[in-house]
Amino acid sequence: MKLSTTIGLVADFVAERFPVTKMNFASMVAKKEVPVHKMSWAYYLGGLTLFFFIVQVVTGLMLLFYYEPTVSDAHASVEYITEYVSGGALVRNVHAWSSSAMILCVIAHLMTTFAMKAFEKPRELVWVSGVILLFLAFGFGFTGYLLPWNQIAVNATKVGLQSIEEVGNYLPGALSELPRILRETIQGEASVGQATLSRFYAIHVVVLPLMVMGLLGAHLFSVQLHGMSKGVDRESRKKEKFFPTFMVKDLTVWGVVFLVLFVVALCLPFESFFAYPLAEPYNPLGSTPEGIKPEWYFFFVYYPLELLPFWLIFLVMNVGAVVLLLVPWIFRGTSRKTLRTIAIAAAVYMVVITVFGQSIYEMLKGQ
Ligand code: HEM
Repeated sequence: MKLSTTIGLVADFVAERFPVTKMNFASMVAKKEVPVHKMSWAYYLGGLTLFFFIVQVVTGLMLLFYYEPTVSDAHASVEYITEYVSGGALVRNVHAWSSSAMILCVIAHLMTTFAMKAFEKPRELVWVSGVILLFLAFGFGFTGYLLPWNQIAVNATKVGLQSIEEVGNYLPGALSELPRILRETIQGEASVGQATLSRFYAIHVVVLPLMVMGLLGAHLFSVQLHGMSKGVDRESRKKEKFFPTFMVKDLTVWGVVFLVLFVVALCLPFESFFAYPLAEPYNPLGSTPEGIKPEWYFFFVYYPLELLPFWLIFLVMNVGAVVLLLVPWIFRGTSRKTLRTIAIAAAVYMVVITVFGQSIYEMLKGQ
């Protein structure tokens, strides 16, 4: 196929998904309607994910005023924020709880937009940008986890990076060196140390926020261009105005959720879930304490890795990531009924492995 034809096809594809020439933003927002049907509640999940992201940016900026990204002072600076800075413990807890809430919302948003077939043409790129946003959200979790530089943070990061190197055992010849080189590049030195902390800090507070803001811009712009998907098989005749009706409801939900987040952050310190000495400063000379686990949202891969061969999980994860990106094309002809069943099965797996993962693991290991 001639290059000009390919460029023409790509241009047509993008123009159909981003018909910017036809748009008039003000009239678009004024005219925008939201379908009312049995799954309309799901239209709040994208907004809630956005809300928690905004909370992360605001509380993150406040923490930056005191946080020291050095192995000598990182833990002390976090302790200083918690014990001496007025409101410091609250801001830190809001940041910690909101990060979990954001991941929970983005997973629920993915599953509901999947079940509603909201990835159908012309929203394929909304979906693809969404999947990349999901990966970036997990990137926030992985890099942010190291910053307090306590026992669980450093040891869990070591285990996470170690699994990269393990891939080398399944690659032939010189290729088997690549994963080790990748791990050392991410780490910046032979083991998790100052270079790693500096890189994770830069990724967490600069690289990821910029990437998310860029992608989110495209994500939301495309949603504004195409309006909300119909969400159910038969187009619902009942609709409500986005502005002001749906927007007021959206902001009310944000207000209530903020209140709940505030009360939880005030009453339940996130670190209270870490048994001693996990929240203690990292001791490079000490032995690795018991109970080193990643954040709860990695349990869906952590426990299978503990129970099944590494190569199998590695394969499933990578095929899974590709399938997720290609969902709009792989499931183009699939009925919403089947999509809902798949989404419910995935949700059941996520809940069971996250809540009962440890007991299942102990049961299967006969402990
Ligand atoms: C940081 C992460 C994300 C944020 C802040 C976000 C935000 C939003 C918002 C505000 C909307 C419009 C309201 C709504 O339908 O809920 C939306 C729509 C949408 N999002 Fe996301 N999203 C994120 C991640 C994702 C992910 C991971 C996916 C799927 C892989 C996704 C797929 C979609 C789709 C398909 C729509 C169109 C929904 C429709 O028209 O019914 N988004 N997103």
